Amino acid sequence: MTIDVRIDPHPGNEALNDLWASAWNEPTPRDFSPVLSRSLAHVCAYAGERLVGFVNVAWDGGIHAFILDTCVARDFQRRGIATKLIEQATAIARERGATWLHVDFEPHLIGFYRSLGFRETEAGLIRLRD
Ligand SMILES: CC(C)(COP(=O)(O)OP(=O)(O)OC[C@H]1O[C@@H](n2cnc3c(N)ncnc32)[C@H](O)[C@@H]1OP(=O)(O)O)[C@@H](O)C(=O)NCCC(=O)NCCS
Repeated sequence: MTIDVRIDPHPGNEALNDLWASAWNEPTPRDFSPVLSRSLAHVCAYAGERLVGFVNVAWDGGIHAFILDTCVARDFQRRGIATKLIEQATAIARERGATWLHVDFEPHLIGFYRSLGFRETEAGLIRLRD
């Protein structure tokens, strides 16, 4: 099936929550509109009209952009979809004026992000609430 990559399509909560349930095993629905309203860009993959992939490019309002929430529906993984999403997200972040594109990730995804041009850096993270 052809995969269609779209920039800023603003998918609704139903489509995003269905994707979250599949990719992140996250059954609790949430409202994504505050996230999308603050983004520099978001990039989505569609199989027909079904949302099957998503990446958010968050932004500090200046030169820093941040890749967040990269995900692909379980039944569409390992077909190169996330690769296409990150390539598009990188291009759009550059076009829209960011100088630095950051990402953090779990150790098993090091090969995925390195192959897309992200070089090694140290980072830190604190969980602020459960
Ligand atoms: C991580 C994720 C986005 C990858 O999506 P995808 O569309 O399957 O990725 P791609 O097909 O573009 O993968 C390209 C390459 O990256 C690497 N890769 C992808 N998923 C991987 C995984 N789970 N573990 C290790 N390497 C992985 C492989 O080298 C893969 O190439 P191959 O299939 O020829 O082996 C997807 O598995 C997902 O949604 N996972 C759950 C959410 C998550 O953990 N997101 C990461 C946030 S940082």
